[in-house]
Amino acid sequence: MLPAWLAIASVFLHLLAAAFWVGGMLFLGIVVVPALRGTPERARMVERIGLLFERAGIGALLLVLLTGLLNLWFRGVRSVEQLWETPVGRMGLLKLGLFLGMVGLSLWHNRVLGKRAVRLLQEAPEHLQTRQLWRWSSWVGRLVLVVSLVLVFLGVLLARGVSLW
Ligand code: HEM
Repeated sequence: MLPAWLAIASVFLHLLAAAFWVGGMLFLGIVVVPALRGTPERARMVERIGLLFERAGIGALLLVLLTGLLNLWFRGVRSVEQLWETPVGRMGLLKLGLFLGMVGLSLWHNRVLGKRAVRLLQEAPEHLQTRQLWRWSSWVGRLVLVVSLVLVFLGVLLARGVSLW
């Protein structure tokens, strides 16, 4: 009885953490960033909100990873070899690879591009380089969102027994 409840709890927490991550990014991109555009507070607020979301996002992503591995275990992937020897394992491996790539992209977006863009916006708001860096940072942020949405789609396939390879 206990493992069945644990499996349900694990999927529930996986969905909750994934919803926080994807929903948070959509909210930032669709509501927060446009609302701050053109305001004198823009650079400071983007930096502050970004830092707060990063902190909560790290917690959510750790939970996604932990429950994702647990979900795989409950779906019968009980050894490392089964990650490439079974269809469910291979889908899990694909999700794991994309997940790690997405985390790397997200760190690059927050810690390198975003940080530099905020600094440039404070020092030289009208400079061409500032605008270019903001555009770059924004495209990398969108890519993080797209990869996250692909991870949702792969999760839906996986939960219905569909394997892509
Ligand atoms: C940001 C990253 C991720 C997102 C947004 C995400 C999203 C989702 C969603 C929405 C589902 C539910 C599909 C459904 O019930 O129809 C799901 C299921 C699943 N995910 Fe993820 N996922 C992520 C990362 C991972 C990782 C890293 C793993 C493996 C280590 C993983 C393994 C699984 C498994 C095994 C299921 C099937 C759960 C079940 O029904 O037993 N996910 N995922």
